[in-house]
Amino acid sequence: MELFILQKIFLVIAIICSKTEENQAVKRSIDLAATHALISDVRLSKDVVPTSYEIYLEPKINESTFDGFIRMNLICKADSKKIMIHAHYDLYINDRNIKLKRNTIKQGTECVLEIPFNGDVWENSEGLFKGFYINSSKNNKEVYFATNMRPNNARRVIPCFDEPEFKVPFTVSIARPKEFVILFNTPLQRSELHSSLDEYMIDFFETTPPISTFTFGLIITKLQKLDPYSEQIDPQVQPNINIWSNNINMEDLQKIQHKLELIYNLIRNFFNVTVPLKKIDIVGIPEVSFIQPVNNWGLLLIRKEELLNEGFYILTQELISQWLGSWVTPFWWADAHINKALSSFLASEIVIQIDGGVEFNGKYPMTKLYSIYYEFSKRYPHSRITAMKQETTSFKTELVIRMLHLTLGKNTFQNGIRSFLSAHFYSTFSADNLWNALTKQALGDSTLLSQYNVAEIANSWLSKDRLPVINADRDYLKKTLTVKQKVYLRERPHDVPGKDKMLWWIPITISRQDKLDFSRCEPYVWMGNTSQLNIDNMPSNDNFIIVNQEEIGPFPVNYDEQNWNLISKYLLTDDGREKVPTYTRAKLLHDAWNLAYAGDLSFTTALNMMLFMKFERNHIVWNPVFTFIDQIGRHIAMSQVHTKFEAYIRGLLAPLYEELGTEQLPEQDWKKDLRALAKKFLCQAGYHPCVKEAQNAFKFWQNSPSPNYENPVPNQYICPVFKWGSIEEWNFGLQRIAEFPKSRQPSERTFLLKSLTGCPIQPEKYNRLLQIAIIEEHPYFTDSDKILIFRTLAGSSVGYMTLFNFLTENWQILRQKFTNRTTLWDSLISSATGIFTTEEGYQMVKKLHEQHSGEFGSAEHIIQNSLRIIKEESKWSMENLPVIENWLDNFNPVGK
Ligand SMILES: *[C@@H]1O[C@H](CO)[C@@H](O)[C@H](O)[C@H]1NC(C)=O
Ligand SMILES: *[C@@H]1O[C@H](CO)[C@@H](O)[C@H](O)[C@H]1NC(C)=O
Ligand SMILES: *[C@@H]1O[C@H](CO)[C@@H](O)[C@H](O)[C@H]1NC(C)=O
Ligand SMILES: *[C@@H]1O[C@H](CO)[C@@H](O)[C@H](O)[C@H]1NC(C)=O
Ligand SMILES: *[C@@H]1O[C@H](CO)[C@@H](O)[C@H](O)[C@H]1NC(C)=O
Repeated sequence: MELFILQKIFLVIAIICSKTEENQAVKRSIDLAATHALISDVRLSKDVVPTSYEIYLEPKINESTFDGFIRMNLICKADSKKIMIHAHYDLYINDRNIKLKRNTIKQGTECVLEIPFNGDVWENSEGLFKGFYINSSKNNKEVYFATNMRPNNARRVIPCFDEPEFKVPFTVSIARPKEFVILFNTPLQRSELHSSLDEYMIDFFETTPPISTFTFGLIITKLQKLDPYSEQIDPQVQPNINIWSNNINMEDLQKIQHKLELIYNLIRNFFNVTVPLKKIDIVGIPEVSFIQPVNNWGLLLIRKEELLNEGFYILTQELISQWLGSWVTPFWWADAHINKALSSFLASEIVIQIDGGVEFNGKYPMTKLYSIYYEFSKRYPHSRITAMKQETTSFKTELVIRMLHLTLGKNTFQNGIRSFLSAHFYSTFSADNLWNALTKQALGDSTLLSQYNVAEIANSWLSKDRLPVINADRDYLKKTLTVKQKVYLRERPHDVPGKDKMLWWIPITISRQDKLDFSRCEPYVWMGNTSQLNIDNMPSNDNFIIVNQEEIGPFPVNYDEQNWNLISKYLLTDDGREKVPTYTRAKLLHDAWNLAYAGDLSFTTALNMMLFMKFERNHIVWNPVFTFIDQIGRHIAMSQVHTKFEAYIRGLLAPLYEELGTEQLPEQDWKKDLRALAKKFLCQAGYHPCVKEAQNAFKFWQNSPSPNYENPVPNQYICPVFKWGSIEEWNFGLQRIAEFPKSRQPSERTFLLKSLTGCPIQPEKYNRLLQIAIIEEHPYFTDSDKILIFRTLAGSSVGYMTLFNFLTENWQILRQKFTNRTTLWDSLISSATGIFTTEEGYQMVKKLHEQHSGEFGSAEHIIQNSLRIIKEESKWSMENLPVIENWLDNFNPVGK
C-alpha cells in the first residue's frame, strides 16, 4: 500500500470510559505529536475498541460536499479516560455535537459515540472523490462520486478507528439523487424517499461482515449494470459477479463475464473456499484518472479500458484481494507488502495456468528477477527513489515466495496457504502467521527438516536490501563440491560495510550431467547460518553440475572454470540445448556475464558461454543478451577493442536477424520484439543492409515539402542515420530543431534532440552542436536542452571525449558564461569528466583538475568524485580489456 508519509491527525475524545463518571462533556483536542507522523509509528490505544458502526452519508452532488453521521458502538476494555479515533483535518466536526452514552456491563463499559460531520469532495482520488466521463448518448459530462480509502483515507470521510486491525460490521445508509444508483460493499436492502431533500432517495444496505476501514467503499453513479446472461448464479453457492459500465457491446461483455468467472473459479479452487459475499460489483469507469484499481470488499472500481483488456493479470490480482486483503487482512500497513507479494505470485501462477504464459511473453519471473539482481547489487541500492524501493522489495518478497513454492513443493505450499487463510477469516495476520503456517504444513509433509523453519528462511532474505551469490567450486579428484555464499555485488568497488556478516538461508539444488533431471526442485541441502559447506559424491570430471537451475532462488551462481567450460561445451550440442530448460540457459548466460562484469569471472569464460547463442532461437534466452551488449559496449567504448566487439556483435546477430525475416502478420509478440531488438543493435553496430534501409526512409523526410510539420521516418531509423549517415543528413535533423513548430508535441522534439546528440560517432557533428547550443547560445536551445545535451553526450565515448576536449579548449569562455549558472556548470563538469574508464582517461581528467585548480567552484566535489570512480574503472579495464581483445582476436581473425 503506497506511501506512508501522510499528514493525519487524531481526534482525542477526553474522559468517557471510566466507570465512575456519568455523561461527561466531550472535549476534542489535537494531538500535535501525531500531525506529521508516519503511519507505521503511531497507533491507537486499545483501551476502547469499536464493535460496530452505523453510518449515514448524504453526498450533495451539486455542491461537491457531504454530510454524515456515525454512531460507533464501543467497548471499554480498561479503565480509560480517553477515546482515540482518527479524523482527517479536512473533515469538519463540531465538538459540541458529539454525544456519548455509556452503559456499564459485565466485562467493562459499553459506550455509544455519536458524531455528525461534513466535508468536501475533491477530484484527487483520496477519500470520497468525484470524477467525470462523457455520456455518449447525451454527449455531456456525467459526474460520479466514489471512495478510495487505501491506505488510510477512511478518516477523510468518516471519523473512525482507521487501522486495519479494527474489523467490525458496518450498517450503512446513503442518500442519492433519484437518477443515480449507489453501489456499496453489500447489496441494497431497501430505498426510501428522502424526507427533506427533494428528488433524493435514501438507500439502506445490508450490514457488512466485519471489515477494515480501508476496504469500505461506495460509488454513486449513472453507470448501468450490464447483463450478459439472463440467469444469475445462486448467491448461496458463490457471489454474483456484476459488471457495471457503459457502452460495452454484448460480445465483449460476454467475454469479460466469462473471464471473470474463469478467474474467480481458479482462485476459489486454489483457496478451496468461496468468499462469503452475495455479490461482487465490478465497475468499469470510463476515462478515469486513477491508475490503480480501487479494491473494496465486494466492490471493485477499475478503468473501463482495463476491463476490456485482453490480459488476465490485473483482474486476477484484484479478485484475489477479495480473499487475501479484504477477508483476511494484513495486521498493519507494514505487513501489506507480504499481502501484495503473495497475491502477485498467486495471480501470476493463475494467469500462467490460464494462458501458458502468453500474457507475460514467457518472461515471468525474469523481468522482476533481473531488476532486483541489478538493484540489490549496486553499491547503494535504492539510492534514488523511494517508490522504487517499495517496488523492488515487493519483487524480492514475491521471488522468495516463489522459492518456497518450488522448494517446499506445490501441494505443501497450497495446503499451507489454505490453513493460513482459514485461521484468519474476518481477522488480520502478520508475516510470521504466514511463515508459521507454511512451516507446520512442510514439517507435516516432511518437505522441510524439523530443525528448519520458514520464518527464519524468509526473514534472512527479507531483512536485507541485498542478495547472495553462490560460489560452487569442485574438486575433481576428490569428487567434492565446496559451496560458499557471500553478498552479490556488481558495481565496483565492492566495499560494502558488514558484508562478511550477512548470511542467507539458501536452497542448494543441484542438477548433474550424469543424472539429468531439471524438474527436481527440492534442495539437496538448505545452506543457512554458515558461509561455507562441503558436498560429497559429485560426478566425474567430464560431467557438469548446475546449481539453482530455473532460478529457483533469486541468486546467481559462479563455478570453477572447468565446470563453466563443461556447461558451455554441452550447450553447443543440439542435444544439450534441448535438455537444458529455457530459464536455466538464460540463467547460465546471465550469471556468467554479470559475474564477469562484476570482476568475479574471466571474460574468456563468459564469452565462451555466449558461443551457443549462435544456435539459440529462444527469445527468453536472447533477451538479456541485449543488455550485456549495451553495458559492455559502453564500458569498452573508448578502446580499440570496441571495433572488434562491434564486428563480433554483427556476426552474432546478423544470422538471427536474417532468419527472423520480414514481418509476416499476424505475428507473435516475442518474434516482433526479438526482431526489433536484433535490428536496433545491428544498426548500431553498423550492419550495412540496415543502415541503407534507414537512409532510404530518411530521404522521404528530406524530400518532404513541409519537413517541419511531419516526420515520416520510423523512430528506429533515426539513430542509425545520425550515426552512420552523412553530415548533411545530420544537419537536416538539427535544422528541424531550430524550426520546430510550437504546434507539435514537445516530446517529438526531445526525441530528435536526444538522437542528434546521442547517436553520432563523428566529433565534427558534436562540435557543431556545442558551438551553436553552448558557445553561441542560440535562443532555440533552452537551459534544459543544454543539460539534456550534456547528459546525452555522456552516454557515448565519442560524445564525452568530444565534450571533454570542448571543455578544455574553451575553459575561459565556459567558466565565465556559467559563473552564476551552477546547475549547468555542474552538469557540464559531471558529463565531461565522470565517464572515463581507462588509465589514460584518468590522467587526462587529473591534468585538467590540476591546470585549473581552484577554478571548479561548485563542481569541485564533482570532479573529485569523477577521479575516484575512474580510478576504480580503469583497474577493471586494465584487467579485462586485454582478455576481451584476445578472445575476440581468436574468434574473429583479422579480415573476417
Ligand atoms: C443539480 O444541478 C442540476 C443541473 O444544474 C439540476 O438539474 C438539479 O435539479 C440539481 N439538483 C439538486 C438536487 O439541486
Ligand atoms: C446518459 O444520459 C441519459 C439521459 O439523461 C441517462 O438516462 C443515462 O443514464 C446516462 N448514461 C450514463 C451511462 O451516464
Ligand atoms: C475443500 O473444502 C471442502 C469443504 O470445506 C472439504 O470437504 C475438502 O476436503 C477440501 N478439499 C481439499 C483438497 O482440501
Ligand atoms: C541459526 O542461527 C540463529 C541465530 O544464531 C539461531 O537462533 C538458529 O537456531 C540457528 N538455526 C539453525 C538451524 O542452526
Ligand atoms: C554573477 O553575479 C554577481 C553577483 O550577482 C555579479 O556581480 C556578476 O557580474 C555575475 N557574473 C556574470 C558573469 O554574470
